[in-house]
Amino acid sequence: MSKKRVLTGVTTTGIPHLGNYVGAIRPAIRAAQSSDVESFLFLADYHGIIKCHDPAMIHESTQAVAATWLSCGLDPERTTFYRQSDIPEIMELNWILTCITAKGLMNRAHAYKAAVQDNLNNGQEDSDHGIEMGLYSYPILMTADILMFKANEVPVGRDQIQHVEMARDIAGRFNHRFKEVFTLPEVKIDENVELLVGLDGRKMSKSYGNTIPLWENDKKTQKSVNKIITNLKEPGEPKQPDESPLFEIYKAFATPSETADFTRMLAEGLAWGEAKKLLAAKINAELAEPRERYAALTANPSQIEDILQAGAAKARQEARELLNQVRDAVGIRALK
Ligand code: ADP
Ligand code: TRP
Repeated sequence: MSKKRVLTGVTTTGIPHLGNYVGAIRPAIRAAQSSDVESFLFLADYHGIIKCHDPAMIHESTQAVAATWLSCGLDPERTTFYRQSDIPEIMELNWILTCITAKGLMNRAHAYKAAVQDNLNNGQEDSDHGIEMGLYSYPILMTADILMFKANEVPVGRDQIQHVEMARDIAGRFNHRFKEVFTLPEVKIDENVELLVGLDGRKMSKSYGNTIPLWENDKKTQKSVNKIITNLKEPGEPKQPDESPLFEIYKAFATPSETADFTRMLAEGLAWGEAKKLLAAKINAELAEPRERYAALTANPSQIEDILQAGAAKARQEARELLNQVRDAVGIRALK
C-alpha cells in the first residue's frame, strides 16, 4: 500500500510560543514519525507577506519557525521540509490555477468576506477599501501548495477548512476541464488538539500578548509563569484546578498520573508560588534539549539554510514533474 501524503504549511509571521508548540508542533512531529505517512512541511513565506508588511519580521520569523521545528524533533530526512519561496514552480502553478478559478469562489472566502465586513462596519463607501489582491487570491496560492505535492491529507486549524475545500474544488475543476492530473486533498482536523490557555486564561495567542515564549532560559520562563493569574488564596487553603490557568498548562506538560498528583497537592493547600515553581520546572525539563538545539541552530543560520535548500532540491524534483504535466494539459509545451 502506498503511503499517505500529509502536507501542511506554517505562515512565517511570528515567533513560536508555547501554544503553537502544544497545539501544532508537538503533535505534528509525533504524527510524522508514523511509518505509513510521508510528510511535507513548509514555511509559507509567500503567505506571510500577505498580512505582514514588515520585512524584518518576515525574515526573523522564517528563521525562528525553521529552527523551532528542527529543534523540536522534525527529522529532515523523513519529512520534506522546505520554504515555499524556494519552489518557484508553486508560483507558476498558482497562475495556472488562477486562470481556472471562479471569481465567485474567491468572493466567498472567509478572510476576504471578513475584510469586506470590516469596511462596511466602519462606514466605508468602497467595500473593497484597502483590500489587496494577495488577501483575495490567498486560497489559490494555498491550493497550489497542496496540489503541487499530491497531498492526500492536510491537517489544519478550523479557520483553514474552507481553504482546503476550495483546493478540492479547484482540483476537480481542472481535472474535469483538462486531464486527471491532481489528487483531491482531504482536510484533517484533529478533534483532540489541545488548546493551551495563556497567562490570562484566554487562548494563548500572540494577538493577546498572553504567551509564554518557547525559547527563553529557565529563569525567564519562571518569570513568565509567575505572571499567570491566580486568586488570592493563601498557602494551606485548598485550591481547585479551575481557579487558575496554571493547571491547564501544567496538564499539557505532565503525564496523567503527575496531573492527578498536582490536583491532590492543590487540594491539600499547595501555595500558588510553589505551584508555579513546579510548572516552570516541567516546562523547562521538556524543553531543555530542544533549547540547546535551538541555540546552536540560531547561532549558525547557514546550517538552517542548508537544510532548507536540501529540502527544496528534493521537493523541486517532484514539483517540476507535476508542473510539466499541468503545462502540457493546458497546451503549454515545446514546439517540436
Ligand atoms: P497565534 O494565535 O499566536 O497567532 P497562529 O494562529 O499563528 O497562533 O497558530 C499557529 C498554529 O498554532 C496553529 O496550528 C494553531 O492551531 C496553533 N495554536 C496557536 N495558539 C494555540 C493555542 N493557544 N493552543 C493550541 N494551539 C495553538
Ligand atoms: N494558510 C495557512 C495558515 O494560515 C498556512 C498554509 C499555507 C497552509 N499554505 C498551506 C496550510 C497549505 C496547509 C496547506 O495556517
